[in-house]
Amino acid sequence: MTEQTKPTAPVDKDRVVIFDTTLRDGEQSPGATMTHNEKLEIAELLDDMGVDIIEAGFPIASEGDFRAVSEIAERSKQSVICGLARAQLPDIDRCWEAVRNSERPRIHTFIGTSPLHRAIPNLTQDEMADRIHETVTHARNLCDNVQWSPMDATRTEWDYLCRVIEIAIKAGASTINIPDTVGYTEPNESADLIRRLIATVPGADEVVFATHCHNDLGMATANSLAAVLGGARQIECTINGLGERAGNTALEEVVMALKVRGDVMPFYTNIDTKKIMHISRRVSTVSGFPVQFNKAIVGKNAFAHESGIHQDGMLKNAETFEIMRPEDVGIAGTSLPLGKHSGRAALRAKLGELGVEVGDNQLKDIFVRFKELADRKKEVFDDDILALVTATTDGGEKLQLINLKVVCGTGGPAEATLEMEVDGRDHSATCHGDGPVDATFKAVRELHPNAARLQLYQVHAVTEGTDAQATVSVRLEEDGMIATGQSADTDTVVASAKAYIQALNRLAIRREKVGPGADKREISYKELG
Ligand code: KIV
Ligand code: ZN
Repeated sequence: MTEQTKPTAPVDKDRVVIFDTTLRDGEQSPGATMTHNEKLEIAELLDDMGVDIIEAGFPIASEGDFRAVSEIAERSKQSVICGLARAQLPDIDRCWEAVRNSERPRIHTFIGTSPLHRAIPNLTQDEMADRIHETVTHARNLCDNVQWSPMDATRTEWDYLCRVIEIAIKAGASTINIPDTVGYTEPNESADLIRRLIATVPGADEVVFATHCHNDLGMATANSLAAVLGGARQIECTINGLGERAGNTALEEVVMALKVRGDVMPFYTNIDTKKIMHISRRVSTVSGFPVQFNKAIVGKNAFAHESGIHQDGMLKNAETFEIMRPEDVGIAGTSLPLGKHSGRAALRAKLGELGVEVGDNQLKDIFVRFKELADRKKEVFDDDILALVTATTDGGEKLQLINLKVVCGTGGPAEATLEMEVDGRDHSATCHGDGPVDATFKAVRELHPNAARLQLYQVHAVTEGTDAQATVSVRLEEDGMIATGQSADTDTVVASAKAYIQALNRLAIRREKVGPGADKREISYKELG
């Protein structure tokens, strides 16, 4: 056990601790894989915005996860850094190895306790109870901040749930997380379950109860808030609600709900809500999961008032239709667009306004792209600038687009001539296809033959007007591995080519990580083996 470890019980009964699992449960969502540097960046943003606990990954799952959790642990400033471990001693040891360099490490260990989940490792109730005692004790001997979760708690028999929670508390867990793993519960049940557990389980008043909800029935936010009313003081959530299937509870929703409705939910969090919008955009970009337009808090339309009646009301008094101010979540008030005469200082000031901090080299890069864009587009809006920031690449990729020329019309197939760098050498190919995007993707495949299957191809306009940039998302699957790419350009076909190439580069990284001949599937936290 380290001396510097500090427990994280809320300082007072009205404080709700925010536990963000974007980098673990969120990243586990098929296709949401992030690169190492992206994970570091998101962790830094979470730390800066006041997230109390960052679940940085699942260290035993892969070398990449281990490295990411270790480095996030070393760099963390305020947040507790937590790693996930199954109820197995090697998992817990690996997790501790990864988090131990954080000033505030936490081990989160779990096992599926419902009848369906107990059947996977084929354990009886007694055998599982012994396993919980052994593994929580082991974790507690390594680290004085241990969280334990009975996975699928909401479908676990009441008596057994109470029994195993008591065992975990006695073995030294200081946070008990109650997962609604399959998004099955509803708000009344959610509140009631926590309330009854706190009233029934011996030692419950000594620990923090957490709520971890999935959104399969669209009730994750409501269930998490209800759990707080029932006595939970830690909410587990992800940015944009990222996560498997319908996702996890969205951080921005629970935090803003507690802020706006303090009259009926008198609790507070430590989150700097002005940082919400920026991190939402970054998570969307690096995960390749676009935010739906009408998503609460962070959707493009969340603060847009189109109808005449609404606009009239808004002009007279913003409170007529707005329950929170856009600036509270980090949306800058309407500001003037930049144009081709705007200089580097104006661009830097605009980035600052948008909450984006860049170093001199990155600014130089963004400025070049900004000038190129301003030559093609009269007015460069805030969203355009954010898309430019996103488009700056890490460099050193296997494939890089050099040039693309497309000829298409109504009378026949489209023709794409593509010049692309493959492992540092220029190649070119001309292909025909059913439309310009099809022809372009064929040309990419001609220069870089691959068996990746296109799972998703999506186009969004960044701003209004026919000269708007298009953001294209591409998701590919090969041998069970999934990777996404996202890019923006005023030319939709160019954006498509760049997004496709980025997804292929990411697949290559994942293939290298797994290694030739190795089992391509990384360990899933659901495999209890
Ligand atoms: O949904 C779930 O049950 C989980 C556990 C690992 C906490 O993510
Ligand atoms: Zn989960």
